[in-house]
Amino acid sequence: MAKDNKNTKVTPFASAESKKTLHKNLEFTATEQYKLLRANLGFTLPEGVKCPIIGVTSSMRGEGKSTTAVNLSYVLAESGNKVLLIDGDLRIPSIAKKMGIEATPGMTDFLMGKEVAIDKFKSDVLENWFIIPSGDLPPNPSELLGSHRMETFLDAMAKKFDYIVIDLPPVNIVSDALAISKYTTGMITVIREGYTEKKELEKCFRQLKLSNVHVLGCVMNGSKSGKGSYGKYKRYYKYYRYYSSH
Ligand SMILES: Nc1ncnc2c1ncn2[C@@H]1O[C@H](COP(=O)(O)OP(=O)(O)OP(=O)(O)O)[C@@H](O)[C@H]1O
Ligand SMILES: [Mg+2]
Repeated sequence: MAKDNKNTKVTPFASAESKKTLHKNLEFTATEQYKLLRANLGFTLPEGVKCPIIGVTSSMRGEGKSTTAVNLSYVLAESGNKVLLIDGDLRIPSIAKKMGIEATPGMTDFLMGKEVAIDKFKSDVLENWFIIPSGDLPPNPSELLGSHRMETFLDAMAKKFDYIVIDLPPVNIVSDALAISKYTTGMITVIREGYTEKKELEKCFRQLKLSNVHVLGCVMNGSKSGKGSYGKYKRYYKYYRYYSSH
């Protein structure tokens, strides 16, 4: 992620959509690149925040948001932090499927005020890694994500965890990520090499800026090498830097 790191790439997570292969894949995917992402976060997160709440978004569908959210939360937990991963994509959720867990109960249960013990969401991968799937899909995801109940929920979780990572839908398609952004410490934007369209990326950064979202950095997903075709996105990193620093 971070703007100065040209080497960040993400290993495909594509085949890890069953419980059987999950652990193996997690070990495989939690490579140096995610550790680098974790380290870079240390530079971009504001000081003094007890539990950073990190949203993961992108401009379009399929750029690797959920893969990034899973792996980032995993490496944060792996280094001893108590971490909560939330599936905040209440339209096309994928965390339950990726992790081979039940999709319900989940986030929408908390948002509807149901009593669910957080211990129920402890992963069987690491004891300090908790995963809340989407729950039943609501008709009004954007309103729920931006609701006072969500704020209260995140405040309560921030007292229990060291990090909260929220997987979100793309900024250019729906307003959900922007709606919840006011409760986050900042957002990571995923860019998929050879897939993300520049126009869409530009639009995404513009939207984030308009909503005063603190962009913590970008993840270059699918980069084959440190150099690769990163160059063609460089301008947009500058674009992001412009927006992030004004
Ligand atoms: N670097 C990569 N190389 C190959 N496949 C990848 C890579 N990153 C993600 N994928 C695969 O691409 C698909 C989309 O990834 P993922 O679900 O993480 O994206 P997303 O941005 O969360 O999508 P959506 O917008 O639909 O929620 C998945 O099948 C995933 O396994
Ligand atoms: Mg996703």
